[in-house]
Amino acid sequence: MVQLTLPKNSKISEGKTWNKPDHDGDWKEFRIYRWNPDDSRNPRIDTYHIDQKQCGPMVLDALIKIKNEIDPTLTFRRSCREGICGSCSMNIDGTNTLACLKGIEEVKGAVKIYPLPHMKVVKDLIPDLTNFYAQHASIEPWLKTDSPTPPKEWRQSRDDREKLDGLYECILCACCSASCPSYWWNSDRYLGPAILLQAYRWVIDSRDEATGERLDNLEDPFRLYRCHTIMNCAKACPKGLSPAKAIAELKKLMVERRV
Ligand code: SF4
Ligand code: SF4
Ligand code: FES
Repeated sequence: MVQLTLPKNSKISEGKTWNKPDHDGDWKEFRIYRWNPDDSRNPRIDTYHIDQKQCGPMVLDALIKIKNEIDPTLTFRRSCREGICGSCSMNIDGTNTLACLKGIEEVKGAVKIYPLPHMKVVKDLIPDLTNFYAQHASIEPWLKTDSPTPPKEWRQSRDDREKLDGLYECILCACCSASCPSYWWNSDRYLGPAILLQAYRWVIDSRDEATGERLDNLEDPFRLYRCHTIMNCAKACPKGLSPAKAIAELKKLMVERRV
């Protein structure tokens, strides 16, 4: 049998332990992936102890407390702290999610935190989203029109506006794409669930006049059709959206325009 092992420099080692419990409290352990491109060391898992009585309720509160009070070198992205900006996406307790929406109490035992899987790491918990953003740009995520610009605004009926529900709420956190096996193996050519949901958002927008061009852009064995309806994406989305459904709708439109 073939035995597969990680390359030597990818093996994760045990790191430092910080802030061991030194008083009575409601202590919780956080085991966090650390990797610094500026030293030549392998990734490691550092262990931090936090007294929950002195910390906010969310995993992001704990990360901020660690950074502010225990270890300023811990690196992660965050901005809004309320599930709007999409920047604190990471893998917590084996699931891709937003650190600001994940309650510490939801995790039994130690809270294990890694960067989003199957993406290059910039540092610690920060994934490299360069390819993800380039793919987003490739679907031209803006209103494209040929008609003369109306004096006030591009109008839309209530019914047409409702078609954007379940799509416009996407915050581009990439939790879904980083949970999609098809995207793990083909992210150079497959657009992945987040970007396809965005693509559908513009295809279905009644005000947009580039629908045919947008569908042409997706007519490719990899860009769209690498989705095999595994549904991990819908399970992962912290905003409760279903990229798989949007992808199915796109495939339906592709078929409809052929007949
Ligand atoms: S349904 Fe498609 S996009 Fe979603 S996880 Fe599965 S293969 Fe990926
Ligand atoms: S569909 Fe959900 S998981 Fe995917 S990028 Fe948008 S908000 Fe994040
Ligand atoms: S900090 Fe903005 S979504 Fe978590």
